[in-house]
Amino acid sequence: MLILAIESSCDDTAAAVVAAPDQVQANIISSQFDVHAPFGGIVPELASRAHIEAIWPVVTRALTEAGASLDDIELVAATQGPGLVGSLLVGFTFAKALALVKNIPCVGVDHMAGHLLSAHLGSPAPAFPYTALVVSGGNTSLFTVNNYTDFKCIGRTRDDAAGEAFDKVAKLLGLGYPGGPAVSRLAGTGDPRAISFPRAWLDKDSLDFSFSGLKTSVVNTVNRYRQKKIPVPTEDICASFEEAVVEVLVEKTLLAARKNDHRAVILGGGVASNKRLRGQLAKRCESNGLKLHVPEPVFCTDNAAMIALAGYYRFMRDEILQPDDDAYSRSPLN
Ligand code: KG4
Repeated sequence: MLILAIESSCDDTAAAVVAAPDQVQANIISSQFDVHAPFGGIVPELASRAHIEAIWPVVTRALTEAGASLDDIELVAATQGPGLVGSLLVGFTFAKALALVKNIPCVGVDHMAGHLLSAHLGSPAPAFPYTALVVSGGNTSLFTVNNYTDFKCIGRTRDDAAGEAFDKVAKLLGLGYPGGPAVSRLAGTGDPRAISFPRAWLDKDSLDFSFSGLKTSVVNTVNRYRQKKIPVPTEDICASFEEAVVEVLVEKTLLAARKNDHRAVILGGGVASNKRLRGQLAKRCESNGLKLHVPEPVFCTDNAAMIALAGYYRFMRDEILQPDDDAYSRSPLN
């Protein structure tokens, strides 16, 4: 079965052609970086307009790269939520309309489900059940993944997402947008022990996260340097901030795996590209006898291949969309 999948939940327009369940034949991602960079963050109205312009060219490119035509497609899958509703509606409505015209089934996929299953696009695939950490610009959550359609959120951020914290620190330091890669690059030459930023462990055994206190602490530290007219030690601040985020993410993920007696951990979301996070998590998983699966970066960030995979398993359960089904901004999974 050949699946065409579409993802437009935030600021990337993505389309993939996948031979069910996991053979990726094309995975196209069109970034809106240039549209939003001048504003230092995503402007929802501009995001929807850019999706409208990109959707057809991106789908066409995916089909061409896969050597397929619309007549070969047997299932359409699209992200139904969560995300920016204006953005979601572009991909979701496009997918439903296409399926209607071609008289083929269409499934709506929760974006989080895509991230939770993304490691199945690589090999070896993780064995169920496993612990998943999804860490991006909009989410920082821990899940128990029991099978292809059974997920339970066991921890989430109470305020900022980790990627959002990276972006805000980058903005404060004048490093541009999106900030994660820039902060991470500078952190590479800084000392992670130079500044002792707070770690929010929250209640004993809590699997929730909080990054707003850390962010405020970085703001106060930078302001102190600026008020005293002392040069801000940008590299050390980046390294110490990154270390504080990574330590909490890693330790809570290990706690989740231990609590649930899981043998495998998967990492997903844009922040999964962070080298320190990957390295520290790999080290701690190894010393605790856990198998870590980190998808290729292109499957960690927002992409449509993971939507095709998750969509296929919804199709297998007959969870087919009706023409008047709507997109949603908040995930029922989270
Ligand atoms: O999943 P994703 O591509 O999309 C959204 O959530 O929209 O994640 C993007 C987030 C941004 O906040 C970005 O700053 C962060 O992931 N990010 C990183 C790195 N690469 C991307 N954060 C830390 N280190 C990185 N290397």
